[in-house]
Amino acid sequence: MSLLRVENLHRHLGAGDARVHALRGVSFTVEAGRTYAIAGHSGSGKSTLLYLLGLLDVPDEGHIWIGDQETSLLGDEARTAVRNARLGFVFQFHFLLKEFTALENVMLPMRKLGRLAEPEMRAKAAELLASVDLGDKVRRLGNQLSGGEQQRVAIARALANDPALILADEPTGNLDQANADRVFALLRDLAHKRGQALLMVSHNPDLASRCDHVLHMKDGRLLD
Ligand SMILES: Nc1ncnc2c1ncn2[C@@H]1O[C@H](COP(=O)(O)OP(=O)(O)OP(=O)(O)O)[C@@H](O)[C@H]1O
Ligand SMILES: [Mg+2]
Repeated sequence: MSLLRVENLHRHLGAGDARVHALRGVSFTVEAGRTYAIAGHSGSGKSTLLYLLGLLDVPDEGHIWIGDQETSLLGDEARTAVRNARLGFVFQFHFLLKEFTALENVMLPMRKLGRLAEPEMRAKAAELLASVDLGDKVRRLGNQLSGGEQQRVAIARALANDPALILADEPTGNLDQANADRVFALLRDLAHKRGQALLMVSHNPDLASRCDHVLHMKDGRLLD
């Protein structure tokens, strides 16, 4: 069974004269253990698609299956539970809690899931931050980190609950080449060695070409 299957997704955004048909019938599948890049011009609908797949927004038409679960049948609480347990989301804008430390930001999804004891959560969050080269900044507050550091905390946070599917919107957009390579290698290893899957929006053609599949988006549609 596919990890994720989407069929004929449509989404309109905005109202009145500003109403946009942002997604115009998107269908594809994501298999466990694989990496996928979504490429396409600004405004082509990449973030809109990722928000739907992250169960942060609902389509006007079409279906999203996560495993054997058709998500349109889920209520708000169940959607939140699926999101927290099975999906890791790296936002285009990071949305860290500025008054919380890096460590606390990464622990938040673990707290919500409630599977680990406090010391285990701390150790795991520290390990994740070390894996994005922030081992020496775990106690920094969100607003005392650079843009690229915030982005790496957001990546560590997305991985907190070992998500089956990692959805990442420009995860390396604010990073220098060395950090971009490191982060991409981390995400790719999680897919290839641990059977998670990565669906990553990227404007970086070099990174996109290092994914197993590249999905090209144009005007709200995926090209073949
Ligand atoms: N809240 C909104 N209200 C109205 N239109 C919106 C809204 N959000 C996005 N849009 C429009 O929907 C379309 C798709 O936007 P989306 O954010 O998905 O693009 P994108 O491919 O992620 O672009 P970028 O590469 O710049 O991040 C664009 O035409 C955009 O202007
Ligand atoms: Mg976007």
